[in-house]
Amino acid sequence: MIIAVPKETEEHEQRVAITPDVAAQLIKKELEVWIEKDAGLKSNFLDAHYKEAGAKIVADRKALFEGADVLLAVQTPSAEELGYLRKNATLVCFLWALQHPDLVDTLKELGISALGMDAIPRISRAQNMDALSSMSSIAGYKASLIAANNLDKYFPMMMTAAGTIPPSKALILGAGVAGLQAIATCRKLGAVVEAYDVRPVVKEQVESLGAKFVEVPLEESDTETKGGYAKELSKDSQERQKHVVHEHVKKSDIVITTALIPGRPAPLLVTKEMVADMKPGSVIVDLAAENGGNCELTEAGKTVVVNEVKIIGPVNLPSQLSNHASLLYAKNMMNLLNLLIKEGTLNFDFEDEILLNTTITHNGEVVSPMIKN
Ligand code: NAI
Repeated sequence: MIIAVPKETEEHEQRVAITPDVAAQLIKKELEVWIEKDAGLKSNFLDAHYKEAGAKIVADRKALFEGADVLLAVQTPSAEELGYLRKNATLVCFLWALQHPDLVDTLKELGISALGMDAIPRISRAQNMDALSSMSSIAGYKASLIAANNLDKYFPMMMTAAGTIPPSKALILGAGVAGLQAIATCRKLGAVVEAYDVRPVVKEQVESLGAKFVEVPLEESDTETKGGYAKELSKDSQERQKHVVHEHVKKSDIVITTALIPGRPAPLLVTKEMVADMKPGSVIVDLAAENGGNCELTEAGKTVVVNEVKIIGPVNLPSQLSNHASLLYAKNMMNLLNLLIKEGTLNFDFEDEILLNTTITHNGEVVSPMIKN
């Protein structure tokens, strides 16, 4: 079986799907590994490292697609390139199938078995495959560093001969995986941190990281889906939330927003009126920029300055830490492949909850219940 890894071609994408270490593990399982020339260059995994691991370096990208039994990637290849894959080939990468129904149709028509790294269920057994968590954690860390770099103040309290500088105040909105890492990183840098999330269960996690949890009394008692994700709030609750968030935003030097609701646009948490009330020099880093933004003034991929407040809308932050992001993504992939490949053959066992939910298409049919429904 040939496992092939193309070079990523999307703008901003510097990661690679597998590292030389993971290539070596696949080769140990008697699989053949092909890597496109320079696929790991931007994450500092060189062709020589892959060769040493036993992989074959392939310069002809089309031939790599045509020869693959299993293609491992970070981003979804273009429709044209998917057409180079053999019928019944397997593709594993981020697919975001819910948001891309046309892609699902293409995969069905081409007879590709496609597994979405973003569709792995958030259950304990799948934690070591959970690429969404590993990448979100990197995004939360990097967002804090971006905030620190853009702020014209120290994060920590400084006692100097010239006088004492108070610590900066950070507010983290959304305390999922990225938000919790942002809290931890801002705390390590010495800021005083507050955090808010619609799911009250995160209060304890926020406090265990040394941050204060901001409470908002909401209309609904149940704000969490069975899968642990946030639900969209009623209009009344959104108003109550805005009022409390406004009070905290205007006191903060840094606001990092991470709030998402699956299948919906990102909730609006920071309005332009709130930004107008912030101190000059304050910084907002909006991790929801690619999903419409949590701040009304965010522009994805840009830094906007309004009333001397910087609103930064980064895209693909995990890619900025490309070496470690690739390392973790590759480990996530390897753990999924250990489930999928048994004794050298592909084992599409849909009795297994992980394979059932992760497989978007197989044999020309949609498999994942989430996409079917
Ligand atoms: P996410 O990226 O979908 O959303 C980020 C955060 O924004 C969430 O905490 C959400 O509650 C919050 N949010 C949404 N609307 C908001 C609003 N209007 N105001 C404030 N906050 C708002 O979430 P993520 O980080 O992917 O985590 C989702 C869930 O999955 C969590 O419960 C997490 O604990 C769980 N999880 C479980 C894992 C496992 O057991 N394997 C692994 C990772 C996460």
